[in-house]
Amino acid sequence: MRITYANSPEEFCFLAASRIADMIRRKPDAVIGLATGRTTTGVHAALSEIYRSRPFDTSRITVFGMDEITNVSRTFPGSCYDMLLRQVVEPLHIPMQNFLMPPTFSNDFSRECRIFESAIAARGGVDLQFLGIGENGHLGFNQPGTPFDSTTWLSRMDEKLDERIRRESGSSPDAELGGFTIGIKNIMMSRSIVLAANGKSKAQIVYQALRGKISTEVPASVLQLHPFCETILDPDAAALLNDLSNEKKP
Ligand code: GLP
Repeated sequence: MRITYANSPEEFCFLAASRIADMIRRKPDAVIGLATGRTTTGVHAALSEIYRSRPFDTSRITVFGMDEITNVSRTFPGSCYDMLLRQVVEPLHIPMQNFLMPPTFSNDFSRECRIFESAIAARGGVDLQFLGIGENGHLGFNQPGTPFDSTTWLSRMDEKLDERIRRESGSSPDAELGGFTIGIKNIMMSRSIVLAANGKSKAQIVYQALRGKISTEVPASVLQLHPFCETILDPDAAALLNDLSNEKKP
C-alpha cells in the first residue's frame, strides 16, 4: 500500500484529482469507478479545474458510480447520479453513453446488479477505482460485516443516511431506501485503486484500515491486500499515522 501525505487540504484535492486526470491521459479509453460524498466533492472540483486549465480527451473514457441510493429519484440532488453528473460528467464533457449508473428504481435489483457488473465487464473491467471511506470503514455501501467475496448487491441503508435522505428528498415513509453498491470483490478486482480521506473525523478509521488487522469489521482494511492501491491523505486524516512514525523514530 502506497501512502501519499498531502501538505494541505488543497493539495489533497489536487493530488487525488490528478490520479484521475493522469489515468485518462495515459489511457483515453479507461474505465473509472467513482465515489460520491463530501470528500469526493472537493476532489471532483479540483478535477474540473485541472481539465479546464489543460483539457484532455474524455470522449472515450467510461465513468461509473460505485454506489447509489435506491428508491429515490435520480433528480434528487443527493443522489449519486446527480452528484456525478454535475461534478464530473458535465464539466469534463463525458458522453452520456459512457456514464454508467445503477438504477434507482427496479422491481428486480438482483438482476440489476448482474446487469451493472456485465456492463462494466463489457468495457474491459476497471482501470481505476476511486474510493472514499466511511467513519466506520465502509466502502461504497459495504458496511462492516460485509464478506470480502461480495459482488454487486443491494445493502441495507445506513440509519443516519436513511434519516437524512428522507428529510431532504421528501420520500414517502414506506419507501424502503437501499444502498446499491459494487461489492468488496469487485473493488479488489480493479486494476488500481485510490483511497482518499480527509478531515479529523477520518483519522481513527484511516489508522485502523491501514495499520490494523485485516477484517470484515473494517471493510477498508481489505485494501492492504491490493497490489496497486494508493491512499491519499490530508494532514488531519493522517494525524495518527504520523504520530506513529514519530514514535518509531529512535
Ligand atoms: C458514503 C458513500 C461512499 C463514500 C463514503 C464517504 O456513504 N456511500 O461512497 O465514499 O460514504 O463519504 P464522505 O466522503 O462524505 O465522508
